[in-house]
Amino acid sequence: MQYRKFGSTGLTVSRLCLGTMTFGLQTEEDVSRSIMDRAAEAGVNFIDTADVYPLGGTEAVVGRTEEIVGRWLAGKREHYILATKAVGKMGPAPWDQGASRKHLLDAIDASLKRLNTDYVDLYQLHSDDRETPLDETLEALDTIVRHGKARYIGVSNFLAYRLALALGRSDTLLLARFVSVQPRYNLLFRQIERELLPLAADENLAVIPYNPLAGGLLTGKHRHDAAPSEGRFTATVGKAGEMYTQRYWHEREFQTIEKLKGIAGESGESLAKTSLAWVLANPAVTSAIIGASRPEQLTDTLAAIDLALDPALKAKLDEATVEYRFGDATR
Ligand SMILES: NC(=O)c1ccc[n+]([C@@H]2O[C@H](COP(=O)([O-])OP(=O)(O)OC[C@H]3O[C@@H](n4cnc5c(N)ncnc54)[C@H](OP(=O)(O)O)[C@@H]3O)[C@@H](O)[C@H]2O)c1
Repeated sequence: MQYRKFGSTGLTVSRLCLGTMTFGLQTEEDVSRSIMDRAAEAGVNFIDTADVYPLGGTEAVVGRTEEIVGRWLAGKREHYILATKAVGKMGPAPWDQGASRKHLLDAIDASLKRLNTDYVDLYQLHSDDRETPLDETLEALDTIVRHGKARYIGVSNFLAYRLALALGRSDTLLLARFVSVQPRYNLLFRQIERELLPLAADENLAVIPYNPLAGGLLTGKHRHDAAPSEGRFTATVGKAGEMYTQRYWHEREFQTIEKLKGIAGESGESLAKTSLAWVLANPAVTSAIIGASRPEQLTDTLAAIDLALDPALKAKLDEATVEYRFGDATR
């Protein structure tokens, strides 16, 4: 494993972070534990979760993933950097979601209880809540940090200009500052290269991209004309299956994947390993958040850490996917 400084902080994390959103719905607890064991054996010391996980879960199951992670961490909490998120809908009341002071203060306590810990290392806004004033959110997060419930704070799914605004407000108000961004980033979704990554570089923010394999599409295992019977692009993950299909299951993406398979094949490496190595090769990237629904899937992804892409091969991958720097940011 390789390790890197987490943006401007004094913290060091593994360059691969284990994502957990399949745990508790697509992946049973015993399999989830094997996935965490396998990642830990390989030196992964950074775990990402969220209060709303499992992915695609209904209100009846939200929180289950944090409970699974909390049980696995029992007795070894201090060996891991633990990140979670809030903002998603956690209950029936209108205030059981969002980035209001009321919800964030409730949400952190509920996450800590499920995770069976007194603190998280990184507390992230899962998305941008435009209906709550930024100052209110920043003050609530500052309270959480000052009470020792979170060591650092970060954001996910923020547009660059909103993050820039938030950084300015926290500096003006002398509040805890965001130290990281968690954006979607892969060979089929490169929009963050235009504004968010330059901002992160200027502000020395840690960048921890999710979805590096486009939910598995960049393993090359799917065919456009053959609907999968299980996994990320099906109802196994509830309504999220539809979301992933809408994001990636298109003729254009499948044609690109054929090109990418050819490029990866030139070096004798799998498309999965090459795609993840491409994300890690971006100097802005601190740690890539990988996902798995079975422990054996980690073999290829964990091995990507040692794959240094030849600059000519990287240039070909960049060139073959340049169109994905632009497009509909909502898809
Ligand atoms: N902040 C956010 O809004 C947000 C959004 C999404 C994810 N995340 C975080 O990022 C983590 C990772 O995201 P992701 O799961 O979408 O990452 P990903 O790496 O793009 O996709 C992982 C999925 O690809 C398939 N896969 C992976 N390795 C494989 C292999 N070797 N062979 C065949 N299939 C393989 C598996 O799906 P199947 O087995 O189902 O095919 C696996 O669950 C999440 O767990 C979560 O912590 C955050």
